[in-house]
Formats: sequence, structure tokens, C-alpha cells
Amino acid sequence: MSVQPIDPKKPDLEESTNVAEQHAAVTRASAAATREQQVRENGLEPVSIWIFIAGSIVAIIAGSVLFSSNNLFGYDKFVKAGYVQADEVGGVKTVPMGEVEAVYMAKGASSYNKCKGCHQPDGKGNAAFPPLAGSEYVIDSPVSVLMAVINGVEGPITVSGKSFNSKMDPQLNKSTDNLEMAALVYYLQNSFGNKVGKIYTPEQMNQVKAMVAERPEGLCSAAELDKFRKIQLEGDLFEPGTLINKKTGEVIEQEK
Ligand code: HEC
Repeated sequence: MSVQPIDPKKPDLEESTNVAEQHAAVTRASAAATREQQVRENGLEPVSIWIFIAGSIVAIIAGSVLFSSNNLFGYDKFVKAGYVQADEVGGVKTVPMGEVEAVYMAKGASSYNKCKGCHQPDGKGNAAFPPLAGSEYVIDSPVSVLMAVINGVEGPITVSGKSFNSKMDPQLNKSTDNLEMAALVYYLQNSFGNKVGKIYTPEQMNQVKAMVAERPEGLCSAAELDKFRKIQLEGDLFEPGTLINKKTGEVIEQEK
């Protein structure tokens, strides 16, 4: 049998080549190559572990800088003004305290929930209920406002130039906590546009309680409230910013 000359353009026509075997070898090699070098879309290639670690370090440092700068995650942004600490932090008993203005405003606002159905949330009242905003009984003296609230009011009364002739039953009583009373007065005298600014102490409320005990029981008339409007409380007021115990109203002495 004569050997055919090899045509370089058609090597597999050479008889000594096993075409099926060669073909299988090429297929195996290309499958292996495909496994080794997966083709990724641009931008989806896996990142080097070192770049990943470097990026994490930058993120941790940047995060702590943002935290400590008080700009993005600052304490002041997350903690409301007038925030008062819990009684117990991590098992350690602490005194719940705050600046008197903030404590009084928060307590007073909660007491005012009892009143706002009539005197309205903005304190301006309406045709049936007199205003507390701009009311001489609220602004002139803590005595008139508390006497009205503790004893109730009945009969014709002119408030801030508008006339009413109706009745309010007692809203607080003589056993109401002094701290609650002082806070309500501060809230009423410094809300709705009222700006009295005086900060009465819980202790001063005993003077009001004594006046309640002296008068005969029954609702107050406008004439009686007008007398109370001229009476002021004796003793020292709280200085603005005084730290007090939120529950007892006691002054907290600060270490200098
Ligand atoms: C059920 C309705 C009602 C509720 C609740 C109520 N009041 Fe009154 N209040 C009145 C009416 C009505 C008068 C006027 C009475 C009159 O005409 O003699 C009045 C009068 C007053 C006055 C004297 C007049 C003035 O406007 O300054 C004060 C102060 C006052 N209320 C404060 C309060 C406070 C504080 C509370 C909540 C603790 C409260 N009231 C809850 C109806 C209410």
C-alpha cells in the first residue's frame, strides 16, 4: 500500500492520524481552559482580597471620624433636648434629672391634656371657652390661675376683652402634687404666646394651698379671681437652668 503525500492544508487526511482521538483531545483541552478562565462581564471581575481589606479599613476610620465629629451621627441629633436619663443605667441607680424649664414644660404639657378639649390645643379657646393665651388670669399671677383651676370658675367673666358666662368645675385639688402645680403654671404662663418666664418652686405652691384652705369651698367668681390676680408668691424662684430631680422637684447640687 502506497503512502499518500501529506497535504499540509488537510493534515487529518493523513492515514496515521486518528481523527476521533485528536478531536476528543481538543475538546477536553478547551473545556479545561473554559473552566480555568471564566469570562466575566466588565466590572464584575472578583476584587483582590487586599483591595477589599484596604477598603474596609478606610470605611472603619471614616465611620469613626463621622461619629466623633458630631455631624452625622452626633449625640445632639439623636437625643432630644430636655432628655432625662433613665432611673437605672446598666444596673446602676441614677437620679432622673433635667433642667427645670424642660422638666416643667413636659409635665405641664401632659397636665394640659385635661384642658385642651375646652381651651383648645392652641390655648386660644373659642366662643364657648375662654382663652388662656393672653389671659390676665394666667399671666398676672400664679395665684389666680391656680385658684381658677383648683376651685373652678362660675359666672360672668371677661378674659382678654371677651365676655363669657359659663362654668368650669375644679380641675385639680388641694392634694395635687406641688411639682405638678408648679409645672402647670410654668407651662400655661409660657405657652400659646404667653411669655412670663418666672419659674416657681414646688415649695411655693404651699402658699396657694393655704389660700385654698382659707376660702369657703365652692367655685370662684370673676371678682374673687381679680383679687387673686394681685397677689404674688413669696420666696425665691428657680434660676433658669437649675437641675432638678424629675420626680421630686428637688434641686440637684452640681459639683464645680
Ligand atoms: C369642660 C371644659 C373645661 C375644661 C376641661 C377646663 N376648663 Fe378652664 N374654663 C372653662 C370655662 C367654661 C371657663 C369660664 C367659666 C366662666 O365662664 O365663669 C374656664 C375658665 C378658666 C380660667 C379662667 C379664665 C381664663 O380663661 O383665663 C382658667 C385659668 C382656666 N379655665 C384654666 C383651665 C386649665 C388649666 C384647665 C386644665 C387643667 C382647664 N381650665 C380645664 C372650661 C374648661
